[in-house]
Amino acid sequence: MEKIMINGGKRLKGIVRISGAKNAAVAIIPAVILSDGVCRIENVPNIQDVIIMAEILREMGARVTRINRTAIEIDPKGIKEPVAAYELVRHMRASSYLMGALLGKFHHAQVALPGGCDFGVRPIDQHLKSFSILGASHTIEEGMIKINADKLVGKRIYLDVVSVGATVNAMLASVKAEGKTTIENAAKEPHIVDLANFLNSMGADVRGAGTDVIKINGVKTLRGSTYSIIPDQIEAGTFMAAVAGAGGDVTLQNVIPKHLEPITAKLREMGVTIEEYDDSVRVISNQRLKRCNVKTRPHPGFPTDMQPQIAAILAIADGTSMVNESVWDNRFKYVDELRRMGADISVSDKTAVVVGIDCLKGAPVKATDLRAGAAMIIAGLEADGTTTIEDIKHIERGYEDVVNKFASIGADIRKIYDRDPAAKTS
Ligand code: EPZ
Repeated sequence: MEKIMINGGKRLKGIVRISGAKNAAVAIIPAVILSDGVCRIENVPNIQDVIIMAEILREMGARVTRINRTAIEIDPKGIKEPVAAYELVRHMRASSYLMGALLGKFHHAQVALPGGCDFGVRPIDQHLKSFSILGASHTIEEGMIKINADKLVGKRIYLDVVSVGATVNAMLASVKAEGKTTIENAAKEPHIVDLANFLNSMGADVRGAGTDVIKINGVKTLRGSTYSIIPDQIEAGTFMAAVAGAGGDVTLQNVIPKHLEPITAKLREMGVTIEEYDDSVRVISNQRLKRCNVKTRPHPGFPTDMQPQIAAILAIADGTSMVNESVWDNRFKYVDELRRMGADISVSDKTAVVVGIDCLKGAPVKATDLRAGAAMIIAGLEADGTTTIEDIKHIERGYEDVVNKFASIGADIRKIYDRDPAAKTS
């Protein structure tokens, strides 16, 4: 099986370019379904989740053409059947966005119940509540969710919890509804703003994205457009944390510093030097990190998608830190893997107590989910000795060319093909 192998202890140095934002791409690509014209999407990350989303659209009848490494062209006019392929859809959480896009365009959607990372329950009650308020009804049969509406009429939607997915789906279902929709208690992540900007580039009327109240005036048609996706603030944060933990001096290109503010603030609190420029940040780490406390919150709070990565560097900080996960029920599965490397972390309910030690020791570990896998890479980079990481498909779902990017800034990291130990005995 394929693994990542890291010989730790190397300082990181040089320049790395950040790719387009995964969580913006997996919302914008299904949103193209709403268009009556051809869309060209640029700065698209070349990752598994995007490949699967593009394949789902192809299976439904859209023409999806890769223009170059980071641009795709989508003509949705061939989509006649608003039914998403079960096998492709069930493994990807973002497939839930097909519900809103297909409902918004065809007033009908048939989508497999979404899969996704395994860190606690991932309900869609707020998505379904939003559809119902707009006039749709749904049934769940054989793992498929079927949603229908005679018509969609704009209304006031108040989300019980701040939910990125429910905000996205409420936007997609209402941009062509009759009249005005207000989404209150909306998520404010950069990818929500990016989706709103993309919808408006097609002729939608979406205002207030990035605040907790989004106002949408329904329009009859949406035209094709060319749009460039924002850089991935979580990929950028992951590299920033890696430099902080391994030490070094690295410049990240193609970032929006404002999107990184909660991460930058936290790393500065830990003693990392961060210089901000127009579309890049320089990260310098030459001393042992200071301990600190972290509470994950919806944007603009510290992002939950950076929680495993920050814990991996607090594991070698000077002192004891508390990491509180307020968004997900169980996002500490990676702690067992860090413990294999000598980390001194105990978890109680939704808080991890991280007692900083001098140095982690390389070991065989697993990527239990996307961001946990990123945390294992960071731990391997800062550890003494060799770390091998299994189940790297989780990592490659969301990080483009991750091994080469780290190798290009001095990491001793490579992919290896390791016969399954069980296979050796056969
Ligand atoms: C998105 O997931 C991201 N995924 C996640 O990133 C991210 O962790 C999460 O937002 C929070 O920022 C994508 O964008 C593809 P939520 P999503 O709905 O939309 C509860 C990554 O690493 N909730 O904002 O599924 C839910 O249980 C991934 O890139 C309901 O109760 O997250 C959670 O506690 C992992 N009912 C909270 O809201 C609902 O109907 C936030 O979930 C929906 C959500």
